[in-house]
Amino acid sequence: VTAEKGGYEHFMLKEIHEQPKAYRDTMRGRINAEGNKVILPELNLTVEQIKNIRNVQIVACGTAYNAGLVGRSLIETLVRIPVENDIASEYRYRSPIVTPETLVIVVSQSGETADTLAALREGQANGAHVLAITNVVGSSIAREANDVLVTLAGPEIAVASTKAYTSQLIAFTLLGLYMAEVRGTQTEEQVSEILTAMHALPEQVEEILAQKEAIKNYAEQISKHKHLFFIGRGVDYAVAQEGSLKLKEISYIHSEAYAAGELKHGTLALIEEGVPVIALATVESVLEKTVSNIKEVKARGADVMAITHEEHVTDLLRSVDQAFVIPKTLPLLTATLSVVTLQLLAYYASLALGHDVDKPRNLAKSVTVE
Ligand code: AGP
Repeated sequence: VTAEKGGYEHFMLKEIHEQPKAYRDTMRGRINAEGNKVILPELNLTVEQIKNIRNVQIVACGTAYNAGLVGRSLIETLVRIPVENDIASEYRYRSPIVTPETLVIVVSQSGETADTLAALREGQANGAHVLAITNVVGSSIAREANDVLVTLAGPEIAVASTKAYTSQLIAFTLLGLYMAEVRGTQTEEQVSEILTAMHALPEQVEEILAQKEAIKNYAEQISKHKHLFFIGRGVDYAVAQEGSLKLKEISYIHSEAYAAGELKHGTLALIEEGVPVIALATVESVLEKTVSNIKEVKARGADVMAITHEEHVTDLLRSVDQAFVIPKTLPLLTATLSVVTLQLLAYYASLALGHDVDKPRNLAKSVTVE
């Protein structure tokens, strides 16, 4: 059994460690030799179609939905096209406004999620071009989509998705850069700066993995709690949502992810002495605001752990109880690193509580009923 898990105790831990390879494999062959251009010859989407896109709808479930939240900020930042995120099971029933100038992006690790497949059909029925980001080439979603951008994460066995999510972020970045080139929204220098930063990600993930003992210790602390909160702004908020889902599904600890500035509109009432709050503080442009939100929870007795970059840690440690440092990358790419910390946190919390990490109760790897 350990042989098929590559010497790891669980598939989830193995898959977390496979992320540097998944990043490289998903990027391989999709960047030109000069390193200043993304090439996606597999796409049917024409230059003309890309130029005409008026809006993007990203539709998915669970972790794939959470990847889409980051995807939205990537596409909006890089291409300046309005993007909406939809939960696949909701999409159809809200009569979405889809036109032939809408690009629908469905995201699915398995390519078999029934709700996501139904959303794909809904998009096509309304004349949209549907692009699937999936990990399984021969899946139903891959077969029916107008375009497929494959993530090369390799088979994902653990119910809790890890390397598929981060590979989806890589795929979104590549797609965003590709569209930006066609629409002229990023300069060649900007593109090559982002691509250079992307090439550094696999090693930066290794740096995080090398610190897993520290995360394990913190996971053991939080495993004694019944409720906790994740807070963040911008992309940090999107990552907070993924961290919260991961923790819930395998450790069964209740958690909520909150946009840091929204806490005081209700949720702050739940903060009392000793409640753990995990504050993602990697988005520089809103750091000061996040710090004031951290102070709000601290003042109510929360026990705060911050995830941040080296340069901010001294400052932050004035307001938080502990901090975890992640390597520095561009703001656009920070989710691909910070989430690894939260994956390890969920893993070790589940382990500390003695749960079946790879097969959490009530859940299936792919949900083929609507
Ligand atoms: C992830 O950890 C979950 N098990 C789940 O949310 C999953 O991401 C969701 O069911 C979507 O699956 P898919 O990517 O295969 O479509």
